[in-house]
Parts: sequence; C-alpha cells; structure tokens
Amino acid sequence: MDIKKIRADFPLLKEWVYLDNAFVGVMPRQVKEGYEEYVDLWYNFSPPGEKTILQEWLLRATRLREKVADFVKVNTNEIAFTTCTGSGLNIVVNGMDWEKGDNVVFPEWEHNALHTNTTARNGVEARVIKARDYRFELADIEKQIDDRTKLIQVSHVSFVNGDTMDLKALTEMAHEHGAKVLVDATQAVGALDVDYHKPGVDFVSVAPYKYLMGPTGLAFLYVSEENIDKLIPDRTGWKNQIFEGDNPEESISEGSAEKFEYGTIHFQGVFALEKAIDYLNAIGTKNIERRNLELAGYLYDGLVAKGKGMYTPDTPSSPIVSYFEDDPLPLAAKLKDMKIKVTGREAHGGHMRISSHFYNTKDDIDKLLSNIP
Ligand SMILES: Cc1ncc(COP(=O)(O)O)c(C=O)c1O
Repeated sequence: MDIKKIRADFPLLKEWVYLDNAFVGVMPRQVKEGYEEYVDLWYNFSPPGEKTILQEWLLRATRLREKVADFVKVNTNEIAFTTCTGSGLNIVVNGMDWEKGDNVVFPEWEHNALHTNTTARNGVEARVIKARDYRFELADIEKQIDDRTKLIQVSHVSFVNGDTMDLKALTEMAHEHGAKVLVDATQAVGALDVDYHKPGVDFVSVAPYKYLMGPTGLAFLYVSEENIDKLIPDRTGWKNQIFEGDNPEESISEGSAEKFEYGTIHFQGVFALEKAIDYLNAIGTKNIERRNLELAGYLYDGLVAKGKGMYTPDTPSSPIVSYFEDDPLPLAAKLKDMKIKVTGREAHGGHMRISSHFYNTKDDIDKLLSNIP
C-alpha cells in the first residue's frame, strides 16, 4: 500500500488527524469526481451514444449493482438499492408476515433498533439482549430465542465499541428455530473484507457514507436468494408496479431484490459509490482489513499503556476502538480545536470512540495519544 500516494487523494488529511470514520468517512478526490460527473452529465444533457439520460443513469445503476454484489460477495440479483440503513431494515420488517405473539430479538445497542411501528402494531414482542463485559454473547441471545422468534437483528460491527458478531454461529442458531437474521453492516462494509454468503445470513443493510467513503442518500440491502420471493415489497411504484396499467416500463415482481426498488433512485449517489468501490477494490479489501486491524491494535495498546479503561473488548476486531472517559464532550471539542477528529459520547457512562481507516497512519494515532490526558 503506497500510503503517501493514497493520502494525496484525501486533501482533508493534510490538515486533519481524522479518526472518526465510524461517524462519517473522508471523501477521496475520485468520489468527488463521481458526483461531478453526474452533475455535468445532467447539466449538459450529454449521455454518450444514442441513450437518453435516464437510460444512462439506469445503466450505471446496473453496473454498480454488480460491483456492490461482488464487493460483499453475493449475487447481483440479491442487491436492492435503498436510501439508508434504516430504509433496508424497514423493507424487511414491513415485508414479513407478523402474528400477535411473535417476537424479535436484538442487542440493546442496535443503532436502528428493531422495535418498529410495524412490530408494535402487530403485537410483536421485542426481546432485548443485555451486554455482558461490553459484548453480546451468543449464549445470551440463544436464551431469548424460541419458536415464535421471527427475526433477530444484529450489527456486524458495533458502532459503540467496534466489537464484531459471529454471524455464522448466530445464523445457525437462528435458523434452527426458523428465525431470520437481519444484519446492520454499516460499520463493517469497506472496513473489513466481508462475505455475506458464507455465514448464510438472510438480510444485510448497509449505508456507504462511513467506510465506503460516500455517498449519503443511497444505500443497499442484501436479500438472500431464498428470501426474495417470500418478502413482499412494502411500497410500490412504476418500477415494481402490480397494476397492469399504461406504464411502458417492465415491472420487476419476482426473482430479484430489485423488486424492492419502486421509483427513481439517487443516481448521483450511484456515480459516487461506483468510484468509491473502484477505489477500495484497487487497494484490495483484504489489505484494507489487515491495515485497519493493525492500526486499531496499535491504538488499543497505546490506550492500555496510558491506563485507560477499555470499552472495546480484547484485541480489536474492527477499526473502532472505544475507551471510558468521564468528560467525553469537552475532550472531543478540545481535540477538534487541535484538528484531531474523534467522537465523544455521553452514553454508557461516557466514552471516546476512535475509528481509523486505511488512510490513517501510526503517526496520526501517536498525535492523538499524546493529546489525550
Ligand atoms: C451501525 C449503524 N447503522 C446505521 C447507521 C445510520 O443509519 P442510517 O443509514 O439509517 O441513517 C449508523 C450511523 O452511525 C450506524 O452506526
């Protein structure tokens, strides 16, 4: 990895020690160019060849769908574009059949907890798993599951302390009870070398504005092949219409997760996300994961050496490292004044969350460590 060359693509890093990728990632020049390409294309109405501008947008979305599927190692027909992580989660919850007395299970720290208006309205019980030693144990999850459990929601990587979930073991346990597994992977994709066929999870929702480095307003949902036809789209439009009307577009009703898209998507985001994925692929997701874990380990050891109480358990398994801090907000503000960006959170007794990415260096981490009390 030519880190000097890479850092030149992120002008912000000249000024900032940016260690807050779990909040929002840093945008490289190439992603900005993707945004600009889209604007220029529309501004000049200049799609290449005979295509209309809509045909060009749709073609780019098709190309991106393939790249997104490759990136998370699933099939192209298993990817639907959405608007945000929560949008994907709601598509799943709203598309399932619920009966009074069913239950859903999720850890207490889920970012978008699975207690929704749909589950509440249908009399579905929400069973919340408590953290033990700052992580969620499979044994504790298992105790809450029974044959009325329809859906288990977990984050692949916790936004609180970066702990990762064993998705394979969880899924095996869930499927034994006939429950589906819904994963929030917004803190994982782009940071780790992920493969969502391997653990056999049912659904994965991802927003790209953190470790994928952009955009906002476009996100994606993985629906495993066997769930595509079982899940009913919770919203309908020209793209997945069920009304046999006058619409010239061919409706997508079965066989592809694209059926969960109902209208015109955030095409500018499509242009930006394609650039982001190309960028990360050029470096290689295995290399990115290796570097992220090395930097997180270096930071973890540095914090332990300073005597900090660690919120992140054991050896870090993602780029996110958190430690306890009584006054997190003033400390985060002081660091920001020094152009060092991390997150201070008052939740859970107060903690600092530091999240590097491949473009960070040990020097960035040393600068942070030397400026925290
Ligand atoms: C784990 C996780 N999921 C989801 C989100 C954001 O949700 P959405 O994409 O729906 O805005 C965040 C943002 O911090 C997050 O950390």
